[in-house]
Amino acid sequence: MAFDIDMIKAVYAGLGDKIAAARQAVGRPLTQTEKILYAHLYNSPATQAYERGKSYVDFAPDRVAMQDATAQMALLQFMQAGKPQAAVPSTVHCDHLIQARVGANEDLAIANNENKEVYDFLASVSNKYGIGFWKPGAGIIHQVVLENYAFPGGMMIGTDSHTPNAGGLGMIAIGVGGADAVDVMAGMAWELKFPKVIGVKLTGKLNGWTAAKDVILKVAGILTVKGGTGAIVEYFGEGANNLSCTGKATICNMGAEIGATTSVFAYDEKMKAYLEGTERADVAALADQVAEHLRADDEVYADPESFYDQLIEINLSELEPHVNGPFTPDAAWPISEFAAAVKEHNWPAKLEVGLIGSCTNSSYEDITRAASIAKQAVSKNLTVNAEYTVTPGSELVRYTVERDGLLDTFAEMGGVVLANACGPCIGQWARHTDDPKRKNSIITSFNRNFAKRNDGNPNTHAFVASPEIVTAFAIAGDLTFNPLTDTLTNKNGEAVKLDEPTGIELPPQGFDVEDAGYQAPAADPSQVQVIVDPNSDRLQLLEGFAPWPGTDLTGLRLLIKAQGKCTTDHISMAGPWLKYRGHLDNISNNMLIGAINAYNGEANNVNNQLDGTSGEVPAVARAYKAAGIGTVVVGDENYGEGSSREHAAMEPRHLGVVAVLVKSFARIHETNLKKQGMLALTFANKEDYDQIREDDTLDIVGLTEFAPGSPLHVVLHHADGTTHTFEVLHTYNEGQIAWFKAGSALNLIRMQEQT
Ligand code: F3S
Repeated sequence: MAFDIDMIKAVYAGLGDKIAAARQAVGRPLTQTEKILYAHLYNSPATQAYERGKSYVDFAPDRVAMQDATAQMALLQFMQAGKPQAAVPSTVHCDHLIQARVGANEDLAIANNENKEVYDFLASVSNKYGIGFWKPGAGIIHQVVLENYAFPGGMMIGTDSHTPNAGGLGMIAIGVGGADAVDVMAGMAWELKFPKVIGVKLTGKLNGWTAAKDVILKVAGILTVKGGTGAIVEYFGEGANNLSCTGKATICNMGAEIGATTSVFAYDEKMKAYLEGTERADVAALADQVAEHLRADDEVYADPESFYDQLIEINLSELEPHVNGPFTPDAAWPISEFAAAVKEHNWPAKLEVGLIGSCTNSSYEDITRAASIAKQAVSKNLTVNAEYTVTPGSELVRYTVERDGLLDTFAEMGGVVLANACGPCIGQWARHTDDPKRKNSIITSFNRNFAKRNDGNPNTHAFVASPEIVTAFAIAGDLTFNPLTDTLTNKNGEAVKLDEPTGIELPPQGFDVEDAGYQAPAADPSQVQVIVDPNSDRLQLLEGFAPWPGTDLTGLRLLIKAQGKCTTDHISMAGPWLKYRGHLDNISNNMLIGAINAYNGEANNVNNQLDGTSGEVPAVARAYKAAGIGTVVVGDENYGEGSSREHAAMEPRHLGVVAVLVKSFARIHETNLKKQGMLALTFANKEDYDQIREDDTLDIVGLTEFAPGSPLHVVLHHADGTTHTFEVLHTYNEGQIAWFKAGSALNLIRMQEQT
């Protein structure tokens, strides 16, 4: 199941009734966000109102999209569910593992070679389980989703932060961890704290050098990188109707930079045109029939202050082009103030590289607007003073802009076309530079610009702007240049000014492509073998975890008592370890190596009670596991905060940890531990944390009566022969207790699947 018009029909068929039920439950008009969310309740229709920013709610998204880095463990886990097919239409996109070195063809050939085993696995597992597979070179996940799968009023999750890009087509699209994708593909409920809703009212019309990108650069400046946390940003107003569909997608894409759960626009004529332009007139016709449900109620637009948690107004007619950075996307500079900021902060004014494209900004409109500037480099006899690269978001766009002569325009300016992949956006960039540590400036039309993001150099000052502004800067090679007001001196010594960019929203001759790079799943999956080399160090098939033995857990040892902050990064570090994200045993060698041992204040140094030696946490855990002894991890407050990485729960489970006992949990990590069949417990009395000694033996008792709301007990057997018993709490419901007993949520699903 890749693209499924029947699924869209089914979503729309029930929409009116579901929204009516929600309106009645909530007792007031609804925002667009609320309509989509209430229409996607796991238990539908709505019978109660949920409190924004407070209630945890189970949802049933329509689709799942995964990129190749995060898909590996997600699909290895999904295989454990024993399902013949993913429960909802799902796709895999090979975009993150291609390094930009010299140019598209060469780079793709190298990536295909270096990542062959990962691609072979992803292709075969997709083929077997009804999942659409987009090959390396097909494009970047969010662009491909926008072109093929996003639909107004839908809800999807994607294992990548910029999944909200699909909000440009009126979809609630949320970036998640691999564990969430597994839940949805396995047919389980997907939990989300009901978000707050921020309204952004757009008036006026973009003109001159200002682009859709500048809307989100401005919003980022207003809300900062944390301002959207826990909220969905809903754009509306006549200004929104004036923005192209792909421009809307750019704005939603970069909502991730303000921490927003996602962003969304209401269905309008621009979305209709884009659907029709990408061969989905059938979807547009269906959306037209339910258009009233694909926007907020009229009362909301008439009196937005009363219905949004926060309201921002932006007049597009007055909006200036912006340049944001360096080092953070919320440092927003209107172009008229940027040159002074460069001088004042002593940022390197010489621009070394301009990079356009990426999942954020490689629409036909973006490319034509940038090309209209690039053309002037040649026609006005200008020298191009910086390197310049173009990263198309998909093969569909690349093929079309090549056909229309736009890539030639960039080539004439000296530009290099990179593969249709993330490349420099995610640090997959073998940058040509004389000194990889030198202080320098680059400017991109991407979304993120944190230190080291693009080229690994902490001294690279990365700025973010629209593709046309990036192109103008690349020609000037100077960040103190203002293309709106300043002139450049050409090869003849004449002062020339760049004309304003002009663009075309959709290709007049339509999109075209020879090979979009899509592999449909096999018609007969029984014949498909999932390909994993048993000797691989990057991929490893999973084995189901052992079920609960049916007794209290006794004779356990303390693996580590972690002190202070212990995020998922402390539990499962990223960086070089990401290479092993598809190999549970290998990546487990990073387990808890960042956690601070409360007894010695050191990281990755704990006592091995079996022989009295000290050792690294993973090695000591392996020693207990080999001896058949279960272990306990003890932690402090808000244990497991940070990104929802499933490895942080899978690794302890794999290395024999049976319980994690903490003062308090970050909720997502607590749920992830439950899913892996572990005990996630909290101290009833936080002082008991201090009672735990390094050489204790522990029992967890009460498990034969394990029930929602009733506490368990821990018995500490101290080395001096004394004992201490205390109460521990949990938040397991009946279903989660069943996960624990089965050994994991996926074990339970598999058992149910087999009966
Ligand atoms: Fe991510 Fe898009 Fe960049 S998918 S890595 S933000 S190109």
